[in-house]
Amino acid sequence: MRAYVPTGKAHSGGPHVVLAELPQPRPRPDEALIKVEAYSVNRGETFKLEEPGASWRPGKDVAGLVVQQAADGSGPEAGRRVVGHPAGGGWAEYAAVPSSALAELPDSVNTVRAAALPLAGLTALRLLRAAGPVGGRRVLLTGASGGVGHYVTELAAAAGAHLTAVSATPERGVRLRELGARDVVADVADAGGDEPYDLVLESTGGGALPVALAKLRRGGTLVWFGQASRTPVTLDFFDFFQGPESATLRHFHYADFPESYADDLAALVRLVADGRLHPELGRVTDWSETAATLVDLRDRRIRGNAVLTVS
Ligand SMILES: NC(=O)c1ccc[n+]([C@@H]2O[C@H](COP(=O)([O-])OP(=O)(O)OC[C@H]3O[C@@H](n4cnc5c(N)ncnc54)[C@H](OP(=O)(O)O)[C@@H]3O)[C@@H](O)[C@H]2O)c1
Repeated sequence: MRAYVPTGKAHSGGPHVVLAELPQPRPRPDEALIKVEAYSVNRGETFKLEEPGASWRPGKDVAGLVVQQAADGSGPEAGRRVVGHPAGGGWAEYAAVPSSALAELPDSVNTVRAAALPLAGLTALRLLRAAGPVGGRRVLLTGASGGVGHYVTELAAAAGAHLTAVSATPERGVRLRELGARDVVADVADAGGDEPYDLVLESTGGGALPVALAKLRRGGTLVWFGQASRTPVTLDFFDFFQGPESATLRHFHYADFPESYADDLAALVRLVADGRLHPELGRVTDWSETAATLVDLRDRRIRGNAVLTVS
């Protein structure tokens, strides 16, 4: 089968990945074999591609057809359409995916939309679970125009949050407002006016995090879920006394939850099928465009999710 493998050349400006001929995966007893029809690429994967491990292959978001059910009898049967979240290896014609990371798709959810769900959707769902009730709360979201950000915006707004979205690209604010953002600002420094936030969901790091933190109310919470800028954060203890005194700063990793991916993927699929969650497909293209798409994702030229279709 054909599959993308990392080149390790990303630092020197070369392509992150090349298409290679590999043996078809041999699933473990708890894994189904999926014929991949579409996959999505994520910013976090662009980071990992810069220093890929020896046997690691990218691809955590797939949608397609079960061609072989898991040998232990778990999970969807052969012939079912599914969305899956394997640990890797998904940018390929075939992928082995644990039953615990698979959800079936109804006819109303096609594989292109489904492929945009796993990493970004699971992160958004779990981020809000970690943050607690947002109804009636003032929420500040950075990196809002990305894959995770669109889902967080729609889910938080539906739950009654007053959400301010930060996106450097003003035209991206139109869709974020349609999804329920009350305000959209191009710079986190411009968020909120004089009114503090109850909750900050921060994913850019660098200089943005301290600025966002300063906008929290006393005792508020900042959930830190990413560092898109790749720049570490410097905090000053004494700045907390200017407003966010006794604030909580919580580190977040979407994989660190007791629920199975399968259950949460099924919840996301239901929300899409019910018209309550709308995958934002900033790019849908043939998988031959994977390397170019990764560069565009890295350089902030893609809104929402990028989905590649396997031809
Ligand atoms: N902790 C976890 O478990 C977890 C899971 C998934 C993802 N993540 C992280 O969450 C973040 C969002 O993921 P994603 O897949 O949604 O990424 P994405 O689609 O690339 O979206 C990130 C957004 O952040 C903004 N951005 C990008 N580079 C930036 C920079 N240098 N400075 C400021 N803003 C920048 C961009 O918006 P504008 O250009 O419009 O401003 C972009 O749309 C990433 O940092 C990712 O690594 C964490």
